[in-house]
Amino acid sequence: MTTPILRVSGLTKRFGGLTAVSDVSFDVHEGEIFAIIGPNGAGKTTTLNLVSGLLTPTGGSVTLDGADVTRLPTYERCHRGLGRAFQVVQPFPEMTVAENVLVGAQFGSRGVSGAEARRRAEAALERSGLAPLADAPVEDLNLLQEKRLEIARALATRPRVLLLDEVMAGLRPAEARAAVELVRSVRDEGVTIVFIEHVMPVVRDLADRVLVMDHGAELAHGSYAEVTADPRVVEAYLGAEEEA
Ligand SMILES: Nc1ncnc2c1ncn2[C@@H]1O[C@H](COP(=O)(O)OP(=O)(O)O)[C@@H](O)[C@H]1O
Ligand SMILES: [Mg+2]
Repeated sequence: MTTPILRVSGLTKRFGGLTAVSDVSFDVHEGEIFAIIGPNGAGKTTTLNLVSGLLTPTGGSVTLDGADVTRLPTYERCHRGLGRAFQVVQPFPEMTVAENVLVGAQFGSRGVSGAEARRRAEAALERSGLAPLADAPVEDLNLLQEKRLEIARALATRPRVLLLDEVMAGLRPAEARAAVELVRSVRDEGVTIVFIEHVMPVVRDLADRVLVMDHGAELAHGSYAEVTADPRVVEAYLGAEEEA
């Protein structure tokens, strides 16, 4: 087996007395689409924050392509190929779509010229279907377009691993299908994807492997079919989801 592009090992994060992430380990291989699912408060977002560097772990490590990045700042991880889209969309509202994506290109690309950053921003806009809206103010975007913007900003950093936190949340089914197609096409271009998702058909359609978290820890991992057949997963997550 080749070196995993991302290795999370014994990752733990405590906030005071609360252990939000408890001894979580997983490997993601190049070109994979890896899903993290679980109930609200399970520690999914905290796990991605530890991977991207927004948070520093209490214990454990994050390795990118064999290099330990556990203590590196976010921008340094970004330069090494970790791109991130957020659950709560965080654009700069007073700027245009293109300007927002350019910020992503500049953040992710140490030592590239302004012209090259603009080229990368344009490619990301094209890629995410936002090119026709390049000059629109961000405040004019609808929810699907905002999600596309968030993905475009991450793509402009030229990630090797793209981290997505509930990018389908709030989308109508047809919009979610469009977003699924976008994520799959990004993977088909060679980007490895780690995503958090509540919408189970999306997980079924996209994920090569699934990690199920509950109370900060791993509850199960495996294929979609394996984890959704696991009685513990049904009890902790899927049963409750059906009620919702
Ligand atoms: N910055 C923080 N300070 C204190 N507690 C936090 C912080 N971030 C998350 N938590 C707590 O950690 C737990 C896991 O949260 P989170 O990772 O957001 O879960 P999920 O994304 O699975 O819904 C929750 O109990 C949450 O309240
Ligand atoms: Mg979350």
